[in-house]
Amino acid sequence: MNILAIETSCDETGVAIIDVRDSTTIVRANTLASQIEIHAPYGGVFPALAKRAHAEKITTLLIQALSDAELLEPQEEMHTLTNELAFLSEKESVLQEHLLPFFSYYKKPDIAYIAVTVGPGLEPALWVGVNTARALSIVWDIPIIPINHMEGHIIAAAVEKIDEQTYKHKPLAFPALSLLVSGGHTELVHIEHDGQYKKIGQTRDDAVGEAFDKVARMFGLAYPGGPIISKLAREWRERSVPNIFELPRPMMYSGDFDFSFSGIKTATLYAICDYKEQHGDMNEEAIAMLATAFEDAVVDVLVHKTYKAIDAHGIETVIVGGGVAGNTHLQEVFTKKAIKSYPNLNLLFPEPWLATDNALMIALAAANQVLSEHIKTAPSETLRADGNLSI
Ligand code: KG4
Ligand code: ZN
Repeated sequence: MNILAIETSCDETGVAIIDVRDSTTIVRANTLASQIEIHAPYGGVFPALAKRAHAEKITTLLIQALSDAELLEPQEEMHTLTNELAFLSEKESVLQEHLLPFFSYYKKPDIAYIAVTVGPGLEPALWVGVNTARALSIVWDIPIIPINHMEGHIIAAAVEKIDEQTYKHKPLAFPALSLLVSGGHTELVHIEHDGQYKKIGQTRDDAVGEAFDKVARMFGLAYPGGPIISKLAREWRERSVPNIFELPRPMMYSGDFDFSFSGIKTATLYAICDYKEQHGDMNEEAIAMLATAFEDAVVDVLVHKTYKAIDAHGIETVIVGGGVAGNTHLQEVFTKKAIKSYPNLNLLFPEPWLATDNALMIALAAANQVLSEHIKTAPSETLRADGNLSI
């Protein structure tokens, strides 16, 4: 059974096509267009620019994905749509301009479901994906499976990779816990059984990815700063020299499962000011040292609180998901502790390229619904994007 998936929640436009068989997903197409260059000058994602870029790119990605999956077939006769897509003309004129010719040139493909991210994320950006899914659903008469972006991050870390094209949806040992760490979220989610999510903790201020990006900006590094800080810190640690910086670990012993990262960020800023007062501008070495101290503090808090939740809830499986899940120091510290004190814990991380936003994770979340026979479709007429959607 083929599923076409769409992701436009932030600054990556993605269209993927998978074929779901037994407990296996075969990837037939996985396209992604990054907007990093568009947003880099602003040091963060600019919603109106994100919306426009998604609207300009998504039809090209649809064509690419259908072609990669060998599902793109021209219409025998040019097909003119009447007013089925009138809803696009008001707020999605750019999307409409690209989608109308697409529908008149190409036939309905062999697709059983359209999966789309409906939230959380930047609402103007989400709407492009949602309206594309609605248009495809109306014209092709294919049902829509709305997907929570955070569930996509969880499933992307929970599937087992067999080879480049094949993923296995293996049964997990429950109760499970997911630590979700991305540019917009930092959450601990308790999973009693497949699909039964309950948030037990979250950040009270910045998301951890956001803190990485803001600290990188203080150093004058490019956006997104997470991977750059991570690389600087890795290289610094390899040198095994003492670090002159030490940063606080806010809320580490707060007794609940919430987080706070704005304090570490502010402490980093003060450390930069102090250093400059005493030594002048920060050289590469000083930046790498402070970046390491920042990463140490963040990772310590994340790992400490997650293991607290593991103890409190008798957790069997931990799934770390979201862009920051690709952080190698986080993975190492987590894994070391599991090996030392939790030998029976199943600790799951996504492949690095599947950790950051993409459409395959949305397809995999839909595949999970199909395989567990709990498919939740939604009518295209009433489908909405919800920037604050909770898990
Ligand atoms: O999940 P994601 O692609 O987008 C959101 O849903 O937000 O996460 C992007 C975030 C960015 O803040 C980026 O800086 C951070 O993940 N990130 C990292 C690493 N790779 C991406 N942060 C720390 N270390 C990394 N290796
Ligand atoms: Zn994400």
